[in-house]
Amino acid sequence: MSLSNTGEIASPTSVYNNRTEELKAFDDTKAGVKGLVDAGIVSIPKIFVRPPEELAEERNSCQKNIEVPIIDLNNIQEGSRRKEIVDEVRIASEKWGFFLVINHGIPLSVLDEMIDGVRMFNEHDVEVKKEVYSRDTTKKVRFNANYDLYKSRAANWRDTLTISLLAVDLDPELLPVVCRKSTLEYVKHIRKLGDTLFELLSEALGLQADYLGSMECGKEGTLVCHYYPACPQPKLTLGVSRHVDPGFLTLLIQNEISGLQVLHEGQWFDVHPIQGGLVVNIGDLLQIVSNDKFKSVEHRVIANHVGPRISAPCFFAGPLSMPEKTYNPIQELTSEANPPRYKEIPLREYVARFYSSSLDEKSPLDYYRP
Ligand code: OGA
Ligand code: NI
Repeated sequence: MSLSNTGEIASPTSVYNNRTEELKAFDDTKAGVKGLVDAGIVSIPKIFVRPPEELAEERNSCQKNIEVPIIDLNNIQEGSRRKEIVDEVRIASEKWGFFLVINHGIPLSVLDEMIDGVRMFNEHDVEVKKEVYSRDTTKKVRFNANYDLYKSRAANWRDTLTISLLAVDLDPELLPVVCRKSTLEYVKHIRKLGDTLFELLSEALGLQADYLGSMECGKEGTLVCHYYPACPQPKLTLGVSRHVDPGFLTLLIQNEISGLQVLHEGQWFDVHPIQGGLVVNIGDLLQIVSNDKFKSVEHRVIANHVGPRISAPCFFAGPLSMPEKTYNPIQELTSEANPPRYKEIPLREYVARFYSSSLDEKSPLDYYRP
């Protein structure tokens, strides 16, 4: 991207011969989307503009007055209340693939500090961000704008710090200093909440509480810290293109700025932030092992005139470091009348498939239907 000293940005069409060249110039700044905003752009570069057919379709969308389910985890160990919670989890996982949890036991201060840490990392010092800027997926901590920048049809308006923090051997020193303490503290809590949710989900599938846990669904994964700067032309782009999440389960914290939307009965619904609430959604792998009982549902993030929006989804993706791990629809959930709807899935291959495609392509799940 050619940014002049006056903070102006040259018109992309007059400077670049093609899209790839423009993407590369932007990537080479290593300053991400925030770098563009800091340079004072008033119109978004062409690489971020959604395809015309998508923009045209958008005008037809409308919203009904129903909300994503909110599940109160208070008194979760009390027999009759637990039964109700399990029922609520089952219905939400079957019908929405999304729900919010409140009274989940993570202190508000831990949530606030996590968000602040992400904000500080993005706003402190661009040189620190440049040092960790990378597209090398073997790096346990990496910062970039759009992991699929060169593959997607339109770039998204966000920057991301990705942390393979659930890997047992992550060296905390790899984490940026400004968000190290807050992130480590948050991860400790989110792992525990992950265990609780896998128990509830197991029970909601009619299985023993430790079933999904013993399949190691929550064992490893990735914490992804998104920073969505205010956008001068939010209608032309997206914060995250529509997609489904690849892992088993996603637990997401977000700041007070809306943007996340879930597709339900053919309409986009806002997943409004609520104080202290965390968003939970079913990923493709859980849809697979549940033999389609639980739904991995499409969602996206719209761009906004105000910002920054900050979010941090934690993707529980199973034991990625075990090369031979495979998954199948759970036997107890299949029968002659309801045969397995997926072939055996090698976890490593499945994840590699995800990284080799763009977020806006169809889900890798389709490869594993018999
Ligand atoms: C994702 C995602 C939503 C958000 O990263 O997969 O859906 O609110 N993020 O940032
Ligand atoms: Ni997602």
